Amino acid sequence: MSVHDLKPGSMKKPPHLINEPPGSTAKPMVILESLSKHYVEGGRRHAVLNGIDAEFHEGEISVIVGKSGSGKTTLLNLISGTDVPDSGKAVIGGKVISGLSENERTLLRRERIGLVFQFFNLIPTLTVLENIVLPCELRGGGRGECARKAEHMLGEINLDGRAGAYPDVLSGGEQQRVGIARALINDPDLILADEPTGNLDSDTARDIMELFLKLVRGRGKTMIIATHSPEVIGRADRIYRIKRGALYPESAPATNPHLP
Ligand SMILES: Nc1ncnc2c1ncn2[C@@H]1O[C@H](COP(=O)(O)OP(=O)(O)OP(=O)(O)O)[C@@H](O)[C@H]1O
Ligand SMILES: [Mg+2]
Repeated sequence: MSVHDLKPGSMKKPPHLINEPPGSTAKPMVILESLSKHYVEGGRRHAVLNGIDAEFHEGEISVIVGKSGSGKTTLLNLISGTDVPDSGKAVIGGKVISGLSENERTLLRRERIGLVFQFFNLIPTLTVLENIVLPCELRGGGRGECARKAEHMLGEINLDGRAGAYPDVLSGGEQQRVGIARALINDPDLILADEPTGNLDSDTARDIMELFLKLVRGRGKTMIIATHSPEVIGRADRIYRIKRGALYPESAPATNPHLP
């Protein structure tokens, strides 16, 4: 595994890093170097991501916009190590995740990354508390310790009274709050969310973004959200657009109220 570890400063910066904040001293949690991915469909090669270079810094919430099919989910999957690139690399906290074996990627994800999904992906046969506890126990945490953490998370998402409820009796917004608690129980450095409000009305989308801001901002976390939602885009620190396989910075929300 050590060949995949990068020492700080040992990596040459790509000449065309698109989003390095000027004068920023924040550390990059995610570095993408010439990241490319294609699919073959019906015998034809379809390039989705074409040599993406980017950095996502600690303490920042970035959103990725782009039309349907532009590659947002593909990019998040490469960052989380759910999928691997054709070429180039994704470096997470100094580790080249795209160079690890599937098992190593799963372990790294468990240790350092929290995932939030559009359709919440809660396990219907488990209660709210059991859903939240799961990543903690998978990581090897003790029963008591994980239950304590899950109860704390329940308070953070304002669902204290619903520990024993099953997901199907919760509203969409409540289910997503449980999804967020589950993603954050192991205190990950990096949180990736794929259309987290895509299935929610705009008021609930605003509440979910407020929850992200409360739980993530000011805690040194790195968060990347693929979204179409103006409520989410409007509160992000940085906005990027995927277009024709490349990632471009967009102007700040205050100067571009019409996104996406
Ligand atoms: N496993 C796969 N096999 C073949 N093509 C795929 C596969 N996964 C994604 N694609 C294609 O890659 C492109 C990018 O898909 P992706 O899901 O990343 O888009 P997206 O920006 O997340 O779209 P949306 O906003 O609809 O979620 C699409 O053209 C899609 O059809
Ligand atoms: Mg998608």
